[in-house]
Amino acid sequence: MLTEAWLGSEADPATSLRNFWVGRKAGVLTNITENWLKPAAPALRGAVGREFNLLKAHIEAGLEKQRVQIEANATATALERERVDLSLPGVVRPIGSHHLLRQVLQRIEDIFISIGFSIVEGPEIETPYYNFEALNIPEHHPVRDDMDTFYIELPKSAPSQLLLRTHTSPMQIRTMEQRKPPVRVIVPGKVYRRDNPDATHSFAFHQVEGLAVDTEITFCDFTGTIEYFVQQFFGAGVKTRFRPSYFPFTEPSVEFDVSCIFCGGSGTAAGGGTCGKCKGAGWIELFGAGMVDPAVYGFVGYDAKKVNGFAFGMGIDRLAMLKYGIDDLQVFFQNDVRLLRQFP
Ligand code: PHE
Repeated sequence: MLTEAWLGSEADPATSLRNFWVGRKAGVLTNITENWLKPAAPALRGAVGREFNLLKAHIEAGLEKQRVQIEANATATALERERVDLSLPGVVRPIGSHHLLRQVLQRIEDIFISIGFSIVEGPEIETPYYNFEALNIPEHHPVRDDMDTFYIELPKSAPSQLLLRTHTSPMQIRTMEQRKPPVRVIVPGKVYRRDNPDATHSFAFHQVEGLAVDTEITFCDFTGTIEYFVQQFFGAGVKTRFRPSYFPFTEPSVEFDVSCIFCGGSGTAAGGGTCGKCKGAGWIELFGAGMVDPAVYGFVGYDAKKVNGFAFGMGIDRLAMLKYGIDDLQVFFQNDVRLLRQFP
């Protein structure tokens, strides 16, 4: 009875139980005092008073018993709740791993850092000036057709157009604007082109730009650096070659090939027949590069008569596909754990 009366009260149980019985304003004892004790006829007051005191003592004792009980329960519950069972098995949380592209990028970075390059990063949203003009690609230059570009919709009042960079080369310009030669940097990052996704195309992919500028950099330094990188990355047996190519910001420009990693450069598949990866050529196209075109130095305030250097731009996705024999670029972006688990 003592306890039932206060069930449903919101305050803490011990306090509301006390309030119900002995609360000053509206407790049961106060009500009895007001309604029975005080109005009692003088002749009966003594008897009512005694009964009242008995009741009061009974209530006080009951309350005390309840309080001890409630507190004991609370302690017991807390002890039970906080008990640590050391025999239970631990919580096993699955540990993730780096995405294959991240692993490949780290490998590329390690190789270039080991020969004195440092890493810089730049914005993915660029101005046409950095993405094209300062790289010696004026408006209406046909080379812009090769890089279908995402332009960002801006209000008419915007001071300049903005676009998603189509390559990491704008960072050549930004780096040279900020540093005096010697410059030796690589620039990893995302680039964007309006391509329809298929096994070798994606609207977003990854590049590493390289730039080395100093007073006495030769074509030999250039090919030597690339060769060193390729052998570190693919293995010592791999050969490189370059073919003439064209980029407005390098002169001469080359395309680097590696001897086919799948058939060892023979052009013949392991089981006989033509190698499907290099289509029998024995070579696989790797990336574009070249000696920095003197015109570019003009955009960054370098003296084209005093400095020279080389630049390259490689696709991380492409290098990863070649190194690990992956034939569909899209798997990098689908994040299927069945693929990811193969590269812990
Ligand atoms: N930016 C070029 C591309 O994306 C690659 C490149 C970089 C070529 C640097 C030469 C020098 O195709």
